[in-house]
Amino acid sequence: MPLWFPQGSPNLPPPKPPPYTPRMTTAVDQVAEVEREAREALEGAADEAALEAWRTRVLGRSGTLTGILRGLGGLPAEERREVGQAANLAKQALEAALEARQDALRAAAREAATRDAIDVTLPGRPVRRGRLHPVTRTLQEITRIFERMGFQAVEGPEVELDEYNFERLRIPEHHPARDMWDTFWVDEEVDGRQPLLLRTHTSPMQIRFMEQHEPPIRIVVPGRCYRYEATDATHEWMLQQVELLAVDEGLSMADLKGTLQEFARQMFGPQRRVMMRNSYFPFVEPGVELAVDCYACPGNDPTCSVCRGAGWVEIMGAGMVHPEILEAAGYDSDRYTGFAAGMGVERIAMPRYGVEDIRLFYQNDLRFLRQF
Ligand code: DAH
Repeated sequence: MPLWFPQGSPNLPPPKPPPYTPRMTTAVDQVAEVEREAREALEGAADEAALEAWRTRVLGRSGTLTGILRGLGGLPAEERREVGQAANLAKQALEAALEARQDALRAAAREAATRDAIDVTLPGRPVRRGRLHPVTRTLQEITRIFERMGFQAVEGPEVELDEYNFERLRIPEHHPARDMWDTFWVDEEVDGRQPLLLRTHTSPMQIRFMEQHEPPIRIVVPGRCYRYEATDATHEWMLQQVELLAVDEGLSMADLKGTLQEFARQMFGPQRRVMMRNSYFPFVEPGVELAVDCYACPGNDPTCSVCRGAGWVEIMGAGMVHPEILEAAGYDSDRYTGFAAGMGVERIAMPRYGVEDIRLFYQNDLRFLRQF
């Protein structure tokens, strides 16, 4: 049996504290606890769905706070007033908190949605108006001048057979005239297939058209041509040409000259001088070339990059269609004669726009192109 000491013994452990007895939680405490817990949960609700779930759980018909308000009727009158007041205040506070949280979430969502989006309130960027390339415009003008004279515009293939580009224009292989038209070959002759090349001029369309039509013929043929060429101020490896062909009874050199003179007058105006001189092309006889007076120098400057002091710039070749070509097309060359011409569009665009270097046309430099 242990000894009893009236004041307790210093050798004994201190007496235990009385056992913890929780304070009686009142209904008001319960309201406060519900509110505290609800506020905490609200902070964690990150989207509309979570907010709605929260509202149902706290303020909904069987929500925690609603439960307290419903239970008021079972409380003694004194307590009922006190608890009712606390619960109603909590309800108002939580409703306000819900609204604030909703607003905050919506604002954040709006901000996120517009952060990388288009600002529709900014004024629009003006749309730059495009325009036709000066060479395209010249090509169209040339074609229209001849159309007004009764020529019909037709086009031919840019990838052409050796046969049309050379052979049938009386430029056989090894003919020295081939030097004028060195080109890009697409395909060498293999297994009897004909060699293909990028056409060096629009003249093959003369043959293609005559092959399928009977005189009278009046055609104008615009299109791109290619040449294996060292480029300089007046030579490019890609160029545009317009071909002309007329075949009829009684056509003479006078018709050729009259047609080209009228073309030059419409194209360059009466002030530009035009010269026609003798030249050679295998598919015409006689052959001529047409030149305009130099537009870059007074005509006698040996350092001029356009005429090199010659004073004249060649813009086209022309001539009377060779009788052998007419015969090859099945026409009676005693009855029909024809004239043809082929002009470089850039060579015509250059004096028109005062451009002294053909290479500028195809550099796609907008500072250059915007001027026209
Ligand atoms: N095809 C020639 C060339 O590209 C230009 C030419 C000369 C065309 C005389 C013709 C012509 O129709 O008759 O150099």
